[in-house]
Formats: sequence, C-alpha cells, structure tokens
Amino acid sequence: MTGMKSALITAFLGITPALAFGIAVAKHGNITIDPECVKACSRLRNIFGDIYSPGNANVTVWDAKQQETHSACWIQPSSTEDVSTILGVIIDTSCRFAIKGGGHARVPDDSVSAGGVTIDLQKMRTVAVSPDRTTVTLGSGHVLLSLYQGLEKYNLTSVAGRVADVGLGGFVLGGGFSHLSPKYGFAMDNVLEYEVVLPNATVAIVNHATHPDLYFALRGGMNNFGIVTHFTMRAIRQGQMLAGSRTYSTDNRDAIIHQAYRLTTEWKNDTSMAFYYSFGYQQVTDDFILAVSQEYSRPVLRPAPFEQLNQIPFESSTVRLGWNSQFSIDSASATPPGGRNLFATVTYHPSADLDRRVQDIMVEEIQSVKTTPGFHPNIVVQPLYEAVVRAGRERGGNAAVILLTVRWENAQDDDRMNALAQRWLERSTAAAKKAGKYHPWLYINYASKEQDPFRGYGEANLQRLRRIQSEVDPQGVFTSQGLCRGYFKLH
Ligand SMILES: Cc1cc2nc3c(=O)[nH]c(=O)nc-3n(C[C@H](O)[C@H](O)[C@H](O)COP(=O)(O)OP(=O)(O)OC[C@H]3O[C@@H](n4cnc5c(N)ncnc54)[C@H](O)[C@@H]3O)c2cc1C
Ligand SMILES: *[C@@H]1O[C@H](CO)[C@@H](O)[C@H](O)[C@H]1NC(C)=O
Ligand SMILES: *[C@@H]1O[C@H](CO)[C@@H](O)[C@H](O)[C@H]1NC(C)=O
Ligand SMILES: *[C@@H]1O[C@H](CO)[C@@H](O)[C@H](O)[C@H]1NC(C)=O
Ligand SMILES: *[C@@H]1O[C@H](CO)[C@@H](O)[C@H](O)[C@H]1NC(C)=O
Ligand SMILES: *[C@@H]1O[C@H](CO)[C@@H](O)[C@H](O)[C@H]1NC(C)=O
Repeated sequence: MTGMKSALITAFLGITPALAFGIAVAKHGNITIDPECVKACSRLRNIFGDIYSPGNANVTVWDAKQQETHSACWIQPSSTEDVSTILGVIIDTSCRFAIKGGGHARVPDDSVSAGGVTIDLQKMRTVAVSPDRTTVTLGSGHVLLSLYQGLEKYNLTSVAGRVADVGLGGFVLGGGFSHLSPKYGFAMDNVLEYEVVLPNATVAIVNHATHPDLYFALRGGMNNFGIVTHFTMRAIRQGQMLAGSRTYSTDNRDAIIHQAYRLTTEWKNDTSMAFYYSFGYQQVTDDFILAVSQEYSRPVLRPAPFEQLNQIPFESSTVRLGWNSQFSIDSASATPPGGRNLFATVTYHPSADLDRRVQDIMVEEIQSVKTTPGFHPNIVVQPLYEAVVRAGRERGGNAAVILLTVRWENAQDDDRMNALAQRWLERSTAAAKKAGKYHPWLYINYASKEQDPFRGYGEANLQRLRRIQSEVDPQGVFTSQGLCRGYFKLH
C-alpha cells in the first residue's frame, strides 16, 4: 500500500506541468486525465523535452470548439522517427490521442485530443521535388500555403485546395477538391505513395506495388490506418493563373444558379476551368449574398467559360491573375479562425431547381435563430467533376456537392445550431430524393458528425476497407473503441 502510494506521488511529481494544467482547467469544469496519459506524457516529456508541451501548445486552431478542447499534453514531432517513437509510447501506455494536421476539423477530439495526447504534425513540412520534377514528397504537416510556396519556387504545384491554413493531411486523406480537380481528380487521386506509421508503430512505404490493399484504403480512409508522415504526389507545372471571387446581390440569384448549371454541364470540356459558388446570410444587413469563385489554371483573364457569368453585374470582385499562394491567403482571410462551426453535406446530380431548393430551405430554417450571436450560415455548391468521377467510378456520374457551413459564437447555442443543420439536412436530402437526383456519395471532409460518409463509399468498398482496417490494426488502436477515436471510424 505504502509502495503504491509513493509510486503515485512520484508519478505526480514527474508531471508538475500537467498538474498545473489540471488546476487551470478546473475552471472549465470537467476534464480528467487518465492515469495512462499521465504516464504517456511523462515519458514523452523525458524523451522529447523541447517539442513537448504540458496541456495544449500555444497554437491557434481554426474551430473554437476544438481550440477549447484540453489535451493532457501536446507534442510536435519533426521526423517520421519521432512519430514512430511517440506512437510506440502511446500504445505502450494505452493513452488516448489525436492526430492534428492543419486542425480544420470541427469536433473536439477530431484533431485536438480530449484529455489525451495531441500529435501535431505542423513541424513536418519538407518539400522534396524529384529530379525529373514530376513528383514531390511532402511532409504531412504542411498547410496548403506552405505547400504552394514550397512548390512555386520550382514553377510547380500539386492538386491542393483553396484556403491557406487548411492542412494537407486531412485534405488529402479525405479527398481534396482543388481548382485542378477537373483535370486531375481529387487530391487523393494524385498520391503515388504514402509513408505511414502503422498502428504497431512501424514505418511502411505504401504504394500500389508494396501494399496494394493499404494503398487503396488510404485513398479516402482518413485516420483509420495509421499516421501518414509523407505524401508523394504528382507535381504539375504551374505559373500564374486566374482566380478570385465576385459577390452578387440576391436579385441575380436565378442568373447565377443558371450559370452554375451551365458551367457544370456544358463547360466540363474545358478542364482548366473550375468554380464554386455560395449563398449565405449576413447578419449585419439581415440579407443574403451570393459569391461565385472563378478559377482558370492558365493566365487568361477572361476565359470563354466565364463570358456569360461576367455579364452579370457584381458588387465586388477579387478576380485577377496571380499566384495560387496569394489566392489561398485571400480565401483564408474570408474564413478566419475563432468561431464555432459545423459542416453538413448532401450530394445530388446537377440541378438548378435543387440548388434553389436547398438554399430556400436554409432561408426558412434560419428564421427562428438568425439573431444568434455571430450567426453565419452559408451554402457552398461545389461541382463534382468528371475527372474525379473517372478516377473513382463508384462515385457515379456528374454531381453537385452541397456544403452547409454554419458559424456562431457561443457554446450555449451549440445544440440549436446542430438542430438547425439536422433539419436542413433532412429536408434537403428528402428534396433531392423526391426530385430523383439524390446521390449517395458524401464528401467525408464536409460531413457532419451525424452523417455516415463511409456508407456512401458503397457496400463493397466499405467491407473491403473494414477488412483491411482489421488486418493492419488487429488491436483496434485506430477504431472507435481504441485510442484514436476522432473523425469518422470504420469500426
Ligand atoms: C476554411 C476551410 C476551407 C476548406 N476548403 C476546402 C477545399 O477547398 N477543398 C476541400 O476539399 N476541402 C476543404 N475544406 C475541408 C478540409 O479539407 C477538411 O476540413 C480537412 O479534413 C482539413 O484537414 P486538416 O489537416 O486541416 O484538419 P485536421 O483537423 O488536422 O485533420 C482532419 C482529420 O484528418 C486526420 N489527419 C490529419 N492529418 C493526418 C495524418 N497525417 N495522418 C492521419 N490522419 C490525419 C486528423 O486526425 C483528423 O481526424 C475546408 C475546410 C475549411 C474549414
Ligand atoms: C462533470 O461531469 C459529470 C458527469 O459527466 C457531471 O455530472 C458534472 O455536472 C460535471 N461537472 C461540471 C462542473 O461540469
Ligand atoms: C502564443 O503565441 C502568440 C503568437 O505566436 C504569442 O504572441 C504569445 O506571446 C504566445 N503566448 C505564450 C504564452 O507563449
Ligand atoms: C519559372 O518560370 C519563370 C517564367 O517562365 C522563369 O523565368 C524561371 O526561371 C522559372 N524558374 C524555375 C526554377 O524553373
Ligand atoms: C466546350 O463547350 C462549349 C459550350 O458548349 C463550347 O462553346 C466550346 O466550343 C467547347 N470547347 C471544346 C474545346 O470543345
Ligand atoms: C506491423 O504491422 C504490419 C502491417 O500489419 C506488419 O506487416 C508488420 O509485420 C508489423 N510489424 C511488427 C514488428 O509487428
């Protein structure tokens, strides 16, 4: 008994910073750190003093719900070997953990661990271009801006997204819509090789030849198969391009919806062109506003596909020629960190009527909650391009991916906001089904916690993914009953 007591005291003395953290969070109410994690953190601190933080590191996380999630400790590895050592300690001690890329997930424990270890990959940002400049190996801790800046030096780019501070990790592992998707498919369709720390803490080089099953599984498999440390991706020659967005008053809504439909269905032959548009509520003016983003991967200021769109009178415009890194900074300034956020998604075959319908449903549903502090709901219509479809036939024909984003300020409104999204989702899904245009595929990176995107991968794929998961992770470390439970789980 005495022996056990002194062992406990020793354990506590060994983690003075964690103890201080425990006092700090008492104010927030409930957070208990499992003894397993006290042990894990103590060992990690001993091995990695300088990259270890008791509690959370001083890092801004995009969503406030994740920002206020408290970890037992936080660690920022700088090499694959570090990641392997960290995972070894975590498994050995049975402590919960989360993997953080750019930290743009929206639910606590998705990428900031609730009470366990947060493995933050942001120091892993190498860029290694192959001698023939056709591929690039990227550290998995890049955000899109660091990736663009690293590649623009070589007049290269990769299939990556719009917003500077979004992480490469979550973006690629879930799919990845890019302005280059009409030509090259999803970002994940352009990964030639993954370097992964497997659930048993060993390192594997995963490509079509070495581990065909795991290579298949990592394409959309998110954080179910291990910690990806490097992605080797297609490198693409890229100079300046056209991008930016224009805002429009709602008087032009029908014209915009019509143009979006035309661009999706008639102009899919021009794969340099990409676009998406949004319809959002602005609390300050108590009004709605549309924004259409134009993207053309060559330096052409007025490309033919946008000719008709450009006739519609706009309110403001950032459309211009420039470097993608700069465009990504512009996009990030429109979606700053700080608020509480949720995403929810529905997919349907392109339809102007349905675009209008899902927007109208949002208009109806927000009426009773539109004075909620910081309230900002927005619907983004993102075409699912044919190149994406070709790369993954199971996703079926041409489609429109609809993303509802809702932002608000206060925790006491969380339930009301979730309920709002749920009502929108049910009604929009029903509308798509009724119109005979419903598409079962759901983009995992746009799905709400209540949705089941893996089901939308198709039954055969789902069974195969589950089988591969069990084979690679027999202990279930990366499952909903295991140590890494955040985001969407196969088991
Ligand atoms: C403002 C904003 C703009 C966006 N724009 C786009 C866009 O243009 N196109 C698009 O397709 N999507 C876009 N998204 C969605 C975005 O792709 C997802 O939110 C994505 O998951 C974010 O990745 P992250 O690394 O930043 O997030 P994180 O929260 O760090 O990670 C998301 C999930 O992936 C896991 N993960 C991350 N890295 C690894 C790794 N190396 N190994 C294993 N698991 C890992 C995490 O554990 C977590 O569960 C946007 C999202 C936001 C908030
Ligand atoms: C802590 O959690 C318990 C059980 O979940 C709950 O009953 C209690 O009210 C919580 N305390 C605080 C301060 O939130
Ligand atoms: C946290 O980081 C910010 C910005 O990098 C810095 O200004 C601040 O001083 C840091 N706070 C602590 C406690 O280190
Ligand atoms: C990039 O392209 C520009 C313009 O074509 C050229 O001047 C420059 O030398 C190129 N840089 C590299 C590293 O190829
Ligand atoms: C692509 O489609 C548009 C609209 O139908 C047409 O005007 C254009 O000529 C086509 N371009 C090519 C290269 O076929
Ligand atoms: C780790 O897991 C992989 C994949 O299942 C397996 O091939 C390898 O033999 C395992 N290594 C050890 C040391 O257990």
